[in-house]
Amino acid sequence: MFKNFWYGVEFSSDVQVGSPKKVKVLGQQLVLYRKPSDGKVVAMSDLCVHRGAALSEGTVKGDCIVCPYHGWEYSPEGEVQKIPAHPEKGIPRKARIDAYPVVEKHMMIWVFMGDLPEEERPPIPDWSAVDDTETYRAVTGTFLWKSNYERILENGVDIAHTPFVHAGSFGNPDKPEVPEFEVETSPWHCKASVKLNPPKPQGIWGKMNPDKGDLLNRPLVPVSTTWWLPNAILLEVDLPMGKLKIFDVNIPIDEETTLVKFIALRTFFKGKWADKDARRRVFKVLKQDEAVVDTVRPELLPFDLSDELHVKSDYNQVLYRRRRRELIEAGWSVEGNTIVGEGTSARVEARVIPSPIRREVPELASAWNFKEVRSRQLLESEAARRTPTSTPTTQATPDVDDDEPESMPTTEVTV
Ligand code: FES
Ligand SMILES: [Fe+2]
Repeated sequence: MFKNFWYGVEFSSDVQVGSPKKVKVLGQQLVLYRKPSDGKVVAMSDLCVHRGAALSEGTVKGDCIVCPYHGWEYSPEGEVQKIPAHPEKGIPRKARIDAYPVVEKHMMIWVFMGDLPEEERPPIPDWSAVDDTETYRAVTGTFLWKSNYERILENGVDIAHTPFVHAGSFGNPDKPEVPEFEVETSPWHCKASVKLNPPKPQGIWGKMNPDKGDLLNRPLVPVSTTWWLPNAILLEVDLPMGKLKIFDVNIPIDEETTLVKFIALRTFFKGKWADKDARRRVFKVLKQDEAVVDTVRPELLPFDLSDELHVKSDYNQVLYRRRRRELIEAGWSVEGNTIVGEGTSARVEARVIPSPIRREVPELASAWNFKEVRSRQLLESEAARRTPTSTPTTQATPDVDDDEPESMPTTEVTV
């Protein structure tokens, strides 16, 4: 899991003025609330610095949020403004928690989970089609998945699995070959485009589809899959009857649990009557994927490329794994599931993702009560210090299969 990215954490329409909302991401619990004064959304650590109560169970008063336990009032910047038990005393310097930058865009609330200054932050994925409501009809949905988000992300951009996992829906088991594909990349995304033989459309799409020709003679369907770091996907399909675009974020609640939030756009059957069917189709695909991804071992994505075997059709996943390794080396990974767990996984130590103010105002360094989460890089170096006779920490050159595309681009570490 990685800090220093914008995370789409909730649909904009699901955070209303007056109702704080709890969301979880990167093993952290956040409270979201909409300020009555200007309607802007606030995101802060859902962890009262006094006794650790969840602010998301509290109330909004003016633009502040009030802790449900002893009534401490927090400003949108995370500073305590009032301690009702001692109104005559000053507010301690340490009476503050991390508040994170928020942007509302493409129907979602994006929270920047990290401490980078604005100009160094990676971009929010370009989902501008979501805003083109003239061209597209949108449906949204949420799917809780007990698998690691990186396994889910790789599955979402994997072209070769569709004839097997989605046979009978959009995969064509008679044509499993993955032809040559085009690739567009940047340090933050990879888009692979290919033309596939479509299966016969099912249900109302089949009944109303103007193209009822023989399966073998149907035109090829342009399909593309895109990943954006750290966890967003787009599947685009140019069907004969129109375009289909499914955007989703795979929110890492923790290392083993993912909340998928999708926005599915279509240019055909744009009446409300077809919404339920459009949503049902996405859930059907997700359930087909879930049945396979939940069986994958190891449950977490390996760190070394050579731990699994790659072929040409895995190109965009290999690129993802290389980029991910660079981010880990840059210190952007965060230790999973150690912050404020629940039930039997609850821990005794609360650590948080640092927010930008920690860097912006170094004078406050001693005023942060909660320590920062540790990175994998840090944990590895700590482990190496503790066990000096263990295996060397140098990274072996990844062993890449001969079938890997020759032109596999290398991305620069820009972090
Ligand atoms: S725990 Fe929040 S005010 Fe005491
Ligand atoms: Fe799939």
